[in-house]
Amino acid sequence: MRVSLPVSLIVLAAGQGTRMNSDLPKVLHHVGAAPLLHHALRAGQALGPERVVVVAGHGAEAVTKAALAFDDTAIVVEQRERLGTGHAVAEALPALTDFTGDVFILYGDTPFIRAETLEAMLAARARHDVVVLGFQAVDPGRYGRLILAGDMLERIVEYKDASDAERAVTLCNSGVICADVSTLAELVATVGNNNASGEYYLTDIVGIARARGLSAGVVQCDEAETLGINTRVELAAAEAAFQARARAEAFDNGVSMTAPETVFFALDTFVGRDAMIGPNVIFGPGVTVESGAEIKGFCHLEGCHISRGATVGPFARLRPGTELSEDVHVGNFVEIKNSTLAEGVKVGHLTYLGDADVGEFTNIGAGTVTCNYDGVMKHKTTIGPRVFIGSDTMLVAPVTVGADAMTASGSVISTDVPPGALAIGRARQENKQGLAIRLMERLRVIKASHQKGTK
Ligand code: UD1
Ligand code: CA
Repeated sequence: MRVSLPVSLIVLAAGQGTRMNSDLPKVLHHVGAAPLLHHALRAGQALGPERVVVVAGHGAEAVTKAALAFDDTAIVVEQRERLGTGHAVAEALPALTDFTGDVFILYGDTPFIRAETLEAMLAARARHDVVVLGFQAVDPGRYGRLILAGDMLERIVEYKDASDAERAVTLCNSGVICADVSTLAELVATVGNNNASGEYYLTDIVGIARARGLSAGVVQCDEAETLGINTRVELAAAEAAFQARARAEAFDNGVSMTAPETVFFALDTFVGRDAMIGPNVIFGPGVTVESGAEIKGFCHLEGCHISRGATVGPFARLRPGTELSEDVHVGNFVEIKNSTLAEGVKVGHLTYLGDADVGEFTNIGAGTVTCNYDGVMKHKTTIGPRVFIGSDTMLVAPVTVGADAMTASGSVISTDVPPGALAIGRARQENKQGLAIRLMERLRVIKASHQKGTK
């Protein structure tokens, strides 16, 4: 067994993705509500990398922001001229000068490489100086071809430079390569650009390594893992593949879904065992659902945490910063944003809670609205435990409702309610005897006189 050395990543993400026909750099297009770049970084994260270097180019500023959002220790290198994958790696290597260990080269537009595959490559480094991830292509198209002699990888030939015999090879290059950092640096330094594209091909390092008596090997993976994204059609296909994989994983983790094909996960969605998910549920980024919670149909969730035993929906929208404690019930047509609901809170129907803190076992009546925005600033609503908020209460923030208090239905609450008090903030009702009948009779007389006049 080889003693495992530290690992670093170089993620190539400088390409524009011309065929996306987009102002957005290719690696920032989304699959599973996350930029493609995050998928690649997440795959690499499984190796516990000591350092992560992202090569940005087209849209470097936005790519940098996205890289740091995923990993604030990532180093972003700007490749100003896109002279090829070999050049991109050469630009990244100075960020690894004081690093010793193995380097994995990943592509920012190749989101589906599995952690197990990268681990298999690391294990293969015990036998080879350079390890390349390959796959049997159904349609090898323009992929680079892996030329083997027995078990040894002799070289990689790009499609444009390949002979007919080489083009007939179906074992293709995924682009993922692993080697020791100093070996990689030496090999990359000798790569030239005398080829059909006039580019510095990273793939040339294999032939150079062999000529120097180093060994090179191939680890194979399923073609689906190496799926790269070049067009909007491929992006949509990648989304479908991602969702299929996420649904299968959810089932494996003990999650029930009545109509899995209508449930959409994000890259970072976490759903616990024995949770139940109804049809047409959409997870945006940053959602955690604990064991045994139930999400009924047609809910849209993002940036929220749903605790054990909570029930949500149908038709609920939970927005970023929503924290539901155990046994909270959120019913239909409820929107919640940046709010904490303590254990056992019930918000059954037609309600908006924003910037609110709600104490345990409080009941929020139908049609309640926290009026959190004054047109310029947002304000907080604090509701104590065991409060009863009557239906159609407008809570004009900033406002506090004390523990065990009540608000009368239809109230506009603009001043704090002391604990235990009943707040009534509405016009007093008056009944006018017989007025409804007299009013209707008068209206009918008026209408009849109008009709005579038009004949
Ligand atoms: C590359 C491989 C090919 C392999 C294929 C798999 C080379 C020479 N060829 O070809 O063997 O089968 O990937 O998809 O490596 N990039 C940069 N800077 C550059 C050039 C590329 O960051 O200067 C990035 C791109 O954004 C992309 C990745 O590197 O994410 C691959 O580049 P691309 O031009 O798509 O390479 P291919 O021609 O597809
Ligand atoms: Ca490509």
